[in-house]
Amino acid sequence: MNILIIGSGAREHAIARALHKSPKSKFIYCLASNNNPGIKKLCYDMQVIDINNNELVVQYSKKNNISLAIIGPENPLANGVVDMLGKAGVQAVGPTKEMAKIEASKSFARDLLLEYNIPACPKYKVFKSTEGVKAFLTDLGEGFVVKYDGLAGGKGVKVSGDHLNSHEEAMKYCDEIIQKGGKFVVEEKLVGEEFSLMSFSDGKTLIHMPAIQDHKRALDGDLGPNTGGMGTYSAANHSLPFLNKNEVKKAQEINSLTAAALKKKFGYGYKGILYGGFIATSNGVKLIEYNARFGDPEAMNVLSLLQSDFVDICTSIANSNLKNTDISFLNKASVCKYAVPNGYPNKPIKGEEINVDNVFEPDMLFYASVTKEGDRLILAGSRAVAVVAVEESISEAEKVAENEICSIKGPLFHRKDIGKESLIQNRINHMKSIR
Ligand code: AMP
Ligand code: GLY
Repeated sequence: MNILIIGSGAREHAIARALHKSPKSKFIYCLASNNNPGIKKLCYDMQVIDINNNELVVQYSKKNNISLAIIGPENPLANGVVDMLGKAGVQAVGPTKEMAKIEASKSFARDLLLEYNIPACPKYKVFKSTEGVKAFLTDLGEGFVVKYDGLAGGKGVKVSGDHLNSHEEAMKYCDEIIQKGGKFVVEEKLVGEEFSLMSFSDGKTLIHMPAIQDHKRALDGDLGPNTGGMGTYSAANHSLPFLNKNEVKKAQEINSLTAAALKKKFGYGYKGILYGGFIATSNGVKLIEYNARFGDPEAMNVLSLLQSDFVDICTSIANSNLKNTDISFLNKASVCKYAVPNGYPNKPIKGEEINVDNVFEPDMLFYASVTKEGDRLILAGSRAVAVVAVEESISEAEKVAENEICSIKGPLFHRKDIGKESLIQNRINHMKSIR
């Protein structure tokens, strides 16, 4: 079996490792945007190309007799690579273009939930001009969010108190979007604790993964600019210390209802990973956004905990056979921390050498935006490497992950607080204070 991975970050390294671990006979291929040395080691062939060029992807797949493709990042999904691969006889773990709109269009996701009576949205309205925006902002008051409708690599969302300090500033941002010919969503700001709940979906059945908490801010104490995610943790019971059982169940139910809504709307099922970004509020669990893929870093947590055969899971997603597939996760906690170049995310340094030789357990290390020049490991500009520890408790996993990441040498920094008891206690206290 020839399996293609599209993408080359730490998420795709985790996917490659999970496939590699399977005893099934297979060859792993990768179409990459950088020469990730961790993925390269596990692959039969890896090529750096423009992964958003569907024709190149299809050509490569035909030439190499690929039967199954796993799509890591959102852009190829939004470009319809799954539709094109399907026409060429290649099955995929990832949704079609029209279904990938669940991530690629914020208004599509909100409108779908409204249309199918899934009560998980804040108050919201979709706009193409400034007509009616002021009145809606007045209606929302102090807590509002303005979101560019399309993919923006996490930079399209502006939140009051964080990025916008007045209705005037919000109007200015709306104007900016309109100038570029864009659509936007204005919505109520939700207050609470965020978490990720990802589900495998084969078009008929959903299997939920453990809940994870990501940390978007660059610096300890949730300070500094937003990033792609600095690190994540998950608990041994697959819930999170600040959530109650009903809240995890609610998030699972929202994913199931959303997959069912997509099926009703388009007449066929969603195949791939459905990733709900949720927030537990005083008013229940609400949806912040949907992603149509694995989270990064969330994939490193769940795939490190996965006990079952990942090749089986991927083929079952493609063949709609999840119901008959064994899927279990270790009842252990996990902590993932990213080491990122100094200056990340605004002005990351590039081209400098780092050294990971002292990482004790190679299976804990995931390569992201790095390349090899001879024997030297070189920073390529974005999040560099991640470590994941799996232990009995979050605090034990935190200690191991922290120890390992501190052994990595180079002009890097990481968040020391992710998974620490004091951070988790703050999350619990926050939920207590708003419940
Ligand atoms: P998104 O790209 O939609 O995940 O938004 C990025 C971040 O903006 C989220 O992780 C939240 O922290 C924040 N955000 C988005 N929508 C809301 C909302 N309605 N209320 C509060 N924060 C939000
Ligand atoms: N962890 C955030 C994301 O993958 O979008």
